[in-house]
Amino acid sequence: MNKMEAGGRDGIGAMFDSISGTYDLLNHGLSFNIDKRWRRKAVRMLAPCGELLDVAVGTGDLAFEIIRQGKAEHVTGADLSVEMMRIGREKARARNMSERVSFEEASALSLPYADGRFDAVTCAFGVRNFSDREAGLKEMRRVLSPGGQLLVLEFSHPSVPLFRGLYNMYFNHLLPFVGGLVSGNREAYRYLNRSVREFPEGEGFLELLRSTGFVRTEQRRLSFGIVTIYMATK
Ligand SMILES: C[S@@+](CC[C@H](N)C(=O)[O-])C[C@H]1O[C@@H](n2cnc3c(N)ncnc32)[C@H](O)[C@@H]1O
Repeated sequence: MNKMEAGGRDGIGAMFDSISGTYDLLNHGLSFNIDKRWRRKAVRMLAPCGELLDVAVGTGDLAFEIIRQGKAEHVTGADLSVEMMRIGREKARARNMSERVSFEEASALSLPYADGRFDAVTCAFGVRNFSDREAGLKEMRRVLSPGGQLLVLEFSHPSVPLFRGLYNMYFNHLLPFVGGLVSGNREAYRYLNRSVREFPEGEGFLELLRSTGFVRTEQRRLSFGIVTIYMATK
């Protein structure tokens, strides 16, 4: 495990601080804006609730979509990167959502919230960054109220062979190159590629959810499997 993967403010948090200025631009640009559709579809799967925790909130796009679709009264966004959240707060102000979305510095591996505090917990493109996935999932389950919903959105790999080949060329070569060039942090985009390759997608991740104590686990693959939505219940 290198320093970046060690988690904490000096590792992952600092890495996301350093790419925060170009994060949204590259996210939307490198995915041809499809990332917006993925978040919209994921949020549609949530039942409306009162208090929702969005772990690894970053610059807030999932949290804003949750409010836009009326799926929560209030979203608490937690993240290690203060710079990602600084941009998130600016976006919340511009959308008149500051009252509905708050941003708090916290590690997913030890969340500073009471047991059962939230009706639902979400995490988009965050879980694969956790240095200890099981610890993060246990924490998310702990802060959920009984019967509460967990929604995770993560990258996965397309299963159709020809598309998979083309996608791998794009994801393994073009994306790290353009990401590194625009953000000025090549290692961050090499890390993105590595972290997606190493993530236990599909049934492997559902099994991890079940072993952490979640029930009614299900998955829905989007865009030929480029990303997967995972749902589970406490
Ligand atoms: C790829 S971004 C995703 C941001 C946002 N959810 C989205 O959909 O655009 C990953 C975020 O996870 C955060 N993160 C990584 N590890 C974390 C941890 N252990 N605790 C809290 N946040 C973490 C990073 O700081 C970063 O903002």
